[in-house]
Amino acid sequence: MRTPLVAANWKMHKTIPEARAYLERLLELVGREAGVEVVVIPSFTSLPAAAELLAGTPLGLGAQDAYPEPAGAYTGEVSVTQVADVGVHYVLCGHSERRNLFGEGDELVGRKVQAVVAHGITPILCVGETLDERRAGGVWKVVERQLERGVAGLNDNPRGLVIAYEPVWAIGTGVAAQPSDAQAMAARIRVWLRKRFGARGDRVRIQYGGSVNTDNAGGFLSLPDVDGALVGGASLDPDTFWAIARSAHR
Ligand code: 13P
Repeated sequence: MRTPLVAANWKMHKTIPEARAYLERLLELVGREAGVEVVVIPSFTSLPAAAELLAGTPLGLGAQDAYPEPAGAYTGEVSVTQVADVGVHYVLCGHSERRNLFGEGDELVGRKVQAVVAHGITPILCVGETLDERRAGGVWKVVERQLERGVAGLNDNPRGLVIAYEPVWAIGTGVAAQPSDAQAMAARIRVWLRKRFGARGDRVRIQYGGSVNTDNAGGFLSLPDVDGALVGGASLDPDTFWAIARSAHR
């Protein structure tokens, strides 16, 4: 019922020529296979080249962030309107690196989600606890707060909303969550989504992210409430990323 969504978050990697070479290779690999939606999320600088290369192909395109104000004196920011102009299908909202390294709070993340939806683009709302929060035993409290505030500006129709559960301690550490823990959290998020959006909550896809690689991807992608993966480091090579995406075929 929910097509798995496997996305490559390149973070701050790749020049434009490197992005082109990657996408040309990935397009060779992907062919016409269906059953999994594959999305690439490059840096802003590579978005126009990527949009051109990916037009009319089965690969989707996302932006790593976007600012909710349509225009104005916000030096260094790129607006939702501007990424919509490039033709992205997805925007990451509230990635833990934005929250923890750049001080983004829940309120700003919520405004981003709202602006992205208003532009007909799908937000990938990232949630997840830090190691300290995990040690303090308040994991669900943290995730619930991020969910509540993240979708505060939406009505009862989540449209294309995607949730990415990324425990911060698992990001870039090589220590992924246990699949059973990822399933337990995804199931809890699903219950919350049903409460918030009614039956429509069942349409929302929930990704797992954090040290996903070719060895562990199959374990995550076969979980009943996990509908995809948000891949960082292991997505930087097109062959490796495709091997991960393929393991989502249901
Ligand atoms: P890694 O796959 O490198 O752990 O990063 C995960 C992530 O942050 C994806 O958004």
